[in-house]
Amino acid sequence: MERNLREQNRRSWNAVVGAHESHRGDLAAFLRAGGTTLFPEERELLGDLAGQTMAHLQCNSGGDSLSLAALGASVVGVDLSDEAVRYARALSERAGILARFEHADVYDWLADAGRRGRHFDAVYSSYGVVCWLPDLEAWAAGIAAILKPGGRFVLVEFHPAAEVFDEDWNPVRDYPAGGEPLRLDEGVEDYVGESRGSLTPAGFSNGVRGFENPEPCHLFRWGLGEVVTALAASGLRICALQEYPYFNGEGHFSGMRELLGGRMVPPKGVPAVPLMYGVRAERLKAVGG
Ligand SMILES: C[S@@+](CC[C@H](N)C(=O)[O-])C[C@H]1O[C@@H](n2cnc3c(N)ncnc32)[C@H](O)[C@@H]1O
Repeated sequence: MERNLREQNRRSWNAVVGAHESHRGDLAAFLRAGGTTLFPEERELLGDLAGQTMAHLQCNSGGDSLSLAALGASVVGVDLSDEAVRYARALSERAGILARFEHADVYDWLADAGRRGRHFDAVYSSYGVVCWLPDLEAWAAGIAAILKPGGRFVLVEFHPAAEVFDEDWNPVRDYPAGGEPLRLDEGVEDYVGESRGSLTPAGFSNGVRGFENPEPCHLFRWGLGEVVTALAASGLRICALQEYPYFNGEGHFSGMRELLGGRMVPPKGVPAVPLMYGVRAERLKAVGG
């Protein structure tokens, strides 16, 4: 059942990726010239990456993977969408930054990597990833199994508290819990086009207009405590859990104000509420290691 839902999600992502990419300006030239798509929050949680091996889960079309590679990491990007992976490989070639991209469902990929004894210094995932996961325990256990002793997992994600509100900041939905499935008939939307530039550091192109996704998608609604508990239960040590009262890039609520560096804050009069969070979890070093 869940596999059918994930397969439908692959179709929905495949349908939208071209529209997203049509808005990104010349991202290859931007990266080639030393630009980065990363924000300070993930840079700080990840720490120094020079010479490190890294898996970037749910990497989409690879902008962040290549930005990580430009910091000196040897990066493997993994994504369910074959279209996203196709764009990622082309971007790597055009930007002249090496990274490897593997097309796979994250659960299949983690299980296979674990079986084959692949290990990484760091695993990273960010910005709209947890909502695609029907099983947090399997996800967290899979990540713990591919980290080297002393390796770290970093997640930077939209805060589930933000899901309580509609676009005008009215509280309309329960706080997410239990991985409750949510079908979106409208599928994955062209949120890059709707951002009008806050998600496109290389400049904004009008690109595809009026995109409508013919492929529905299925989300899973989890609370923050459930994510952190799954990571802790996998044996990882939670070293940091940060909450941020702003979004990086995303501005789909009304009246958002953009501060320097693409940081989006609510309009005056809306109380501060956590809109993103970041976790750093480490695999303990082997005894004597
Ligand atoms: C919002 S994007 C993540 C954004 C990404 N951090 C970036 O740099 O653009 C979510 C990604 O998760 C991928 N995805 C969804 N379900 C997945 C699954 N079961 N396995 C692997 N990737 C998945 C989608 O194809 C999509 O590229």
